[in-house]
Amino acid sequence: MIEDIKNYLEEVKEFTSQKVEDIEQFRVKYLGKKGILNDLFLKFKEVPNEEKKELGQQINNLKQAVNQKLEILKETLKDQNTSEAESDLTRPGISLNLGSRHPVNIVKNRIINIFKKIGFSVVDGPEIEDDWHNFTALNMSEYHPARDMQDTFFIEKDPDMVLRTHTSSVQIRYMEQNTPPIRILSPGRVYRNEDISARSHCMFHQIEGLYIDTHVSFADLKQTLQYFTSELFGKSEIRMRPSYFPFTEPSAEVDVYWGLETETDYRITKGTGWLEILGCGMVDPNVLKNAGIDSEKYSGFAFGMGIERIVMLMYQIGDIRMFTENDIRVLQQFSNEF
Ligand code: DAH
Repeated sequence: MIEDIKNYLEEVKEFTSQKVEDIEQFRVKYLGKKGILNDLFLKFKEVPNEEKKELGQQINNLKQAVNQKLEILKETLKDQNTSEAESDLTRPGISLNLGSRHPVNIVKNRIINIFKKIGFSVVDGPEIEDDWHNFTALNMSEYHPARDMQDTFFIEKDPDMVLRTHTSSVQIRYMEQNTPPIRILSPGRVYRNEDISARSHCMFHQIEGLYIDTHVSFADLKQTLQYFTSELFGKSEIRMRPSYFPFTEPSAEVDVYWGLETETDYRITKGTGWLEILGCGMVDPNVLKNAGIDSEKYSGFAFGMGIERIVMLMYQIGDIRMFTENDIRVLQQFSNEF
């Protein structure tokens, strides 16, 4: 019997094949119900006790050798399958999902391009801002009631620092460093200490515009905004309602005539046909002075708008939270827009 097992061992060692059927046959021959190993175990029961130890060991060796051989052959089969698959040039390719621009960026870029055509350039400012640039220089000194209009996140460690509540702070920074003529846009994130709901968020985006030169008048402001709304919305009828901002005098809120053609027009304009899109005004001479610009010589206008608000109007998005939820089904709808 020991001799038989040696022969089997030899056979197992030498066996090799890359065909599934051969390997299966080999497995059945040794490990099947009526296979060699079961047969050996049956015979094992009948041999005298003193022979059992050695014979048992031999049978186990054989079993191990068979299992090892099967493992190895299975591995090579697997490798072979993948390399065959790789060289199959007719297989469908692996498709990658293309990314697309975020709707806030799409509209931001459009607005920038519209103003670039009339000589505005883009400038940046910090999101963590000091009190001077966010409030005081914009005519909102400490305890000024207008600070209440913008619920603010303060930086605990430094009471002089805030998360900027608007991009108007960049006006001051730019005027401090540059001399007129000035024509800038500053897009960016702003923060308000507000509950998140369908209509409000603690973080959103604004675009600020500033134009300073000699003899800039309110008529220039109106003309510029008319150009802007006709380029962005294809609608050039606007109206300016008197309003209040501490940093502009006079100040206005601008509505664009959206029309009352569809049911949606009725709904979003609350039946009036008009939609508010931004705030603006003539820069207060005191703000010019605060930023080191001669207010006798120069005048200018400023405007500011919320980008999310405009995207929501353009694409009829009813909930501001959609911009930060990263739901791919929402974002994919913008994949053809630039
Ligand atoms: N900073 C204002 C806000 O956050 C928006 C604004 C209004 C900006 C009038 C301006 C402006 O430059 O002239 O609500």
